[in-house]
Amino acid sequence: MIIATTIAEVRAQVREWKQAGLTVGLVPTMGYLHEGHAKLIDQAISMCQRVVVSTFVNPTQFAPNEDLDSYPRDFDRDCALLRAHGCSMVFYPLVSEMYEPDAATYVEILSEMPKQLCGKTRPTHFRGVCTVVSKLFNIVTPDKAFFGQKDAQQLAIIRRMVRDMSYNIEIVGCPIVREEDGLAKSSRNTYLNTEERQAALILSKSIFLGQKLVAEGETNANKIIDAIVTNICTEPLARIDYVAVVDGITMMPVKKITDNVLVAMAVYIGKTRLIDNFIVEG
Ligand code: PAJ
Repeated sequence: MIIATTIAEVRAQVREWKQAGLTVGLVPTMGYLHEGHAKLIDQAISMCQRVVVSTFVNPTQFAPNEDLDSYPRDFDRDCALLRAHGCSMVFYPLVSEMYEPDAATYVEILSEMPKQLCGKTRPTHFRGVCTVVSKLFNIVTPDKAFFGQKDAQQLAIIRRMVRDMSYNIEIVGCPIVREEDGLAKSSRNTYLNTEERQAALILSKSIFLGQKLVAEGETNANKIIDAIVTNICTEPLARIDYVAVVDGITMMPVKKITDNVLVAMAVYIGKTRLIDNFIVEG
């Protein structure tokens, strides 16, 4: 596996691959890789001849009060996982490689879409995500890029950015990977102490409850929200940020459950903010 720390190295290698007629996949991550990331990488490897994984804790998507400094990092462990899964190249840049000190250009969707759900408490988050993903697309120029359904709003926003900016890149969404007890895998799960780890199960339990109600035929979005909120409130360590039912493409609230509706939540367990969701499928 090639370890690249500069944009120039990535460009030179990708140029060689493309000259040899090979297809290139990109899996953008912030490192501290787990089974959720690994599934994206496996998917990428099954669909592309060469796979680039970026591991970059992107400062522009963190607000000043957020966990940029404490975000977990372990590059050696990440490399071991990446090698085991057959990654061709890891891109591991310094912040100074990605952002000039006076960088002032951003990619931002100027609609209501990034202001919904996570955008309510993280108003500059998706601008940072779009900017870094756009840069990674320009650096790697992949044929396909892989994102998890775990971050459903992020996936929808990237799809919109790709459409609006005419990126010639296919976006592939991958299902949520969970721990055996249901908790969605996340690098931030490492923040939870034993008691909080147990309490965090309220998210997946509430997701499964919502799925059950939908499967039983409930079509009233407010009833789904009420049932989920009531369930989360049974857990004393949980504090709801949002529970919402939205259109799976626009992220705007809907009243009726139909195919491709997204049921999403963000919940604080102690100081840790966790997210989970499901898509209603026909
Ligand atoms: P990160 O949180 O490291 O996630 C990288 C990718 O892995 C995202 O597409 C995310 O949706 C996916 N992922 C994380 N946990 C998952 C799980 N349990 N199941 C399925 N997929 C999962 O998301 C980011 O980094 C950043 O915002 C990034 C896109 C890299 C831009 O900086």
